[in-house]
Amino acid sequence: MSTTTGSFIAGGIAACGAVTVTHGFETVKIRLQLQGELQSKKEAVRVYKGVFHGVGVILKNEGAKGLLRGLGCAYVYQMTLNGCRLGFYEPVRKTLTNAIYKDSNIQSFGINLFSGAMSGILGAAAGSPFFLIKTRLQSFSPFLPVGTQHHYKGAVDGMRQIYSQEGVKGLYRGVVPAMIRTGFGSSVQLPTYFFAKRRLVKHLGMEEGMPLHIASSTASGFVVCCVMHPPDTVMSRMYNQTGNLYSSAFDCLYRTVKTEGVLAVYKGFFAHLARILPHTILTLTLAEQTNRLMRKVEDRILPPAVKEKI
Ligand SMILES: *[C@@H]1O[C@H](CO)[C@@H](O)[C@H](O)[C@H]1NC(C)=O
Repeated sequence: MSTTTGSFIAGGIAACGAVTVTHGFETVKIRLQLQGELQSKKEAVRVYKGVFHGVGVILKNEGAKGLLRGLGCAYVYQMTLNGCRLGFYEPVRKTLTNAIYKDSNIQSFGINLFSGAMSGILGAAAGSPFFLIKTRLQSFSPFLPVGTQHHYKGAVDGMRQIYSQEGVKGLYRGVVPAMIRTGFGSSVQLPTYFFAKRRLVKHLGMEEGMPLHIASSTASGFVVCCVMHPPDTVMSRMYNQTGNLYSSAFDCLYRTVKTEGVLAVYKGFFAHLARILPHTILTLTLAEQTNRLMRKVEDRILPPAVKEKI
């Protein structure tokens, strides 16, 4: 076992590695979600025609730099989310288990699930300003812009500009759909993972090991994406606006469906899938390596007294 700080660093490095590889798809996803906003299908101009077309067009016009806009913000967001997940999970779980069973050592699947979702939601709330700036950096394009074009130099500059123009309220724009989105994702992730795993073992005779983990995370990643994508689209649109377009997340959902049709909430779905699937698989495989590395480092630098307590 490594320490909590150790697993935070190891998990963070793994997540940032996965983010680096999949960030380009995230950029395409955001532009697809914003394109044709509140326009009927007939009048909407589609400059990005799908995942691969989007990647190609951005690469051609803006280079790799275009695909990687907002990567720094994505790192900070990941670390915030992971930190909150690690930091809040045990306290929430213990408090609830104690309140219900009068014994915090009992493991209840329902409570564990709820605590996982809860700590994810808290993380999404804490990290929302970074996701906001990331979204705005990714929709910025000198060639084929979609959405409001903000000129932020990076995370810190974005924060400074938003704070000085709109205050704290501006930084937390879109926090509600961000929490809903992550809550949806976190609550279906583990149950579908275990469900898929049981089915694969039962019907395909697969055994414990890497292939089974990858197959189960692929299945779970698909379901997560289906459930999470509609609130994700609402979130991207709330992040794009500067308070003058929608009065609430619900208003955004309602008007999107009314003008663009029900399927509009699934704009950018395949780009999202192209991001989520490799992300889960990479995080899973990278985490094993970084955890092993972390244990080695800790073995070397921590005094024996500390190690005994872990
Ligand atoms: C983005 O937000 C602005 C207002 O803040 C709005 O005018 C625009 O329609 C939104 N969407 C796109 C795709 O530009």
